[in-house]
Amino acid sequence: MLRRLHHEQPESFAFTPANLDWAEAQITKYPEGRQASAIIPLLWRAQEQEGWLSKPAIEYVADMLGLAHIRALEVATFYFMFQLLPTGSVANIQICGTTSCMICGAEDLVAVCRDKIAAKPHTLSADGKFTWEEVECLGACSNAPMAQIGKDYYEDLTAEKLSDLLDRLAAGEVPVPGPQNGRFSSEPLSGLVTLKEHDSGRTQYNASVGLAVDLGDTVKRIDGTEVPILTPWLQDGPVRTPTKEEISEKEPRPAAGKPVDDSGVTEQESTAESTGKVETDDEAAGGAPAEGHAKPGRLDAPRDGGADDLKQLKGLGPKAERQLNEMGIYHLDQIASWTDAEVAWVDENLTGFSGAVSRGDWVAQARALTGDA
Ligand code: FES
Repeated sequence: MLRRLHHEQPESFAFTPANLDWAEAQITKYPEGRQASAIIPLLWRAQEQEGWLSKPAIEYVADMLGLAHIRALEVATFYFMFQLLPTGSVANIQICGTTSCMICGAEDLVAVCRDKIAAKPHTLSADGKFTWEEVECLGACSNAPMAQIGKDYYEDLTAEKLSDLLDRLAAGEVPVPGPQNGRFSSEPLSGLVTLKEHDSGRTQYNASVGLAVDLGDTVKRIDGTEVPILTPWLQDGPVRTPTKEEISEKEPRPAAGKPVDDSGVTEQESTAESTGKVETDDEAAGGAPAEGHAKPGRLDAPRDGGADDLKQLKGLGPKAERQLNEMGIYHLDQIASWTDAEVAWVDENLTGFSGAVSRGDWVAQARALTGDA
């Protein structure tokens, strides 16, 4: 396929401050005079930031590395992992069309993409959420046919299963990657006939899927604030860790100026535990509540019997569950009781899952599960 720059380009590109710090730290990995070797991670980061690689982004990275623009263009246009056209806001679906996958039904998967996304590859779906393309062998041939969606592989697909995955992704879910036909990994479909003892200590998911589920970031685009930036190769510790402001923008925190007890719960929150309602900063200050937002009531710990499995809600994975627990949300009935204002607050404060509560209608799901119509 001819790989060309998109006919419409943005005026400019710049890394966000966090991504710029990350990029500068990456460059220090390479010996003096070899900084150009950082081109692939930097282009990748630019793509993560924008969803695709524009000409200004490629040139920006070239300038950072002191390269002629054409050198960076050569790299960006050579590797298929770099998207030179705008991609869907949720995901670009990459269907493997090489031998094993083709024999096992890749054409049916392409037909689903043509039907549900767009007639032609690299074309945005009507809702802007998806694009698709056919790619060469992705190295999961024993689980053919397969597709890469975001950072993970969805294997052993059928047209129906891919269609369902697209619906769920459009609804804000992050479906569990890996084999979609019940296989653990790439063992015979009829079950193991040798090495059966390896079956006994089996975890819920194979290692790759387990990691993917734990990270929960299949279709999430990294923005540079997920982890502290460390440069152990420089032997002088971190170049930079996210600032308090960056962290506080991402995570729920005690309200400013409110006394915090040993458990980290503010006086305001303690009051809320008895009332089931937390005042906003403005409410506590005697002013009007922040429009449309209210922090839900929290519990110090799960009630007797332990926390509910919040992952029963579609679109809620282990990472989001952990954050909810840290917010003092352990039970489905807590979620079932959220008002619109509380949904808005949680939507804004769940790091990496912005808008997931309303997109997945967790309140309705929780009400259905708890029988609270
Ligand atoms: S042929 Fe599709 S993954 Fe190898």
